[in-house]
Amino acid sequence: MRLVVLGLQGSGKTYLVKTKVIPNYGDEYLVFDPNREYTGFNRYTPKFTGDDRRIKEELGLFIRKIILPNTQSLEDLEKGKKPKKKRLKLVVFDEADLIAPSKTNIPAPLRDLVVRSRHLQLDIIFISRRPTDLNAYLMDTSDYMIVFKQVGYNALKTMRALKIDSDAEIKDLVYEQHEFLLFDRERSYQRHTAETLPENPFP
Ligand SMILES: Nc1ncnc2c1ncn2[C@@H]1O[C@H](COP(=O)(O)OP(=O)(O)OP(=O)(O)O)[C@@H](O)[C@H]1O
Ligand SMILES: [Mg+2]
Repeated sequence: MRLVVLGLQGSGKTYLVKTKVIPNYGDEYLVFDPNREYTGFNRYTPKFTGDDRRIKEELGLFIRKIILPNTQSLEDLEKGKKPKKKRLKLVVFDEADLIAPSKTNIPAPLRDLVVRSRHLQLDIIFISRRPTDLNAYLMDTSDYMIVFKQVGYNALKTMRALKIDSDAEIKDLVYEQHEFLLFDRERSYQRHTAETLPENPFP
């Protein structure tokens, strides 16, 4: 599955992923962590966060040298290759608008990873603050979305385009209580907090 998590600064995006998603993957996950928010987790902290061109090069290397060699493609298994004992099952891109901002082409290696993710049996999470910051392709192709409180006309308009009337509910979410909407594949949504999230939220 692919999941996009959006929300204002401090709304609880990182907390939710750390406490409710990553623990389901044992040791078989990796976080791309530009803000150094994942101390103690399996993570890669990119060097070139302040340089648009070099961060994209670094992202390409991260995908080619670290992610892909540690995944297992369905094609390989069909060809009779031995299953890997340990493989990556989840990659989290926090601060995803850094590597895939809106209104620019999505970097080719990232697009390729998204397109191949099902064959690679790899779940991917993209975390960003506002829907207007993140490349729309990632939202349009995500299976699930988690949206914490948003403010601002354009952010809410983007949410309304995703699902009519969700903007009113998103405006109404309580920031201090870390409330969010969980959108499913049909973009039906339910209001939750980390505490009320169902056992198996991404069927
Ligand atoms: N459900 C929750 N219950 C209790 N505390 C929470 C909850 N969610 C988040 N917090 C706390 O709120 C603070 C902000 O959360 P977090 O760092 O996850 O926000 P964020 O959305 O990732 O922010 P940023 O955009 O700045 O990265 C943290 O101190 C975190 O521990
Ligand atoms: Mg965070």
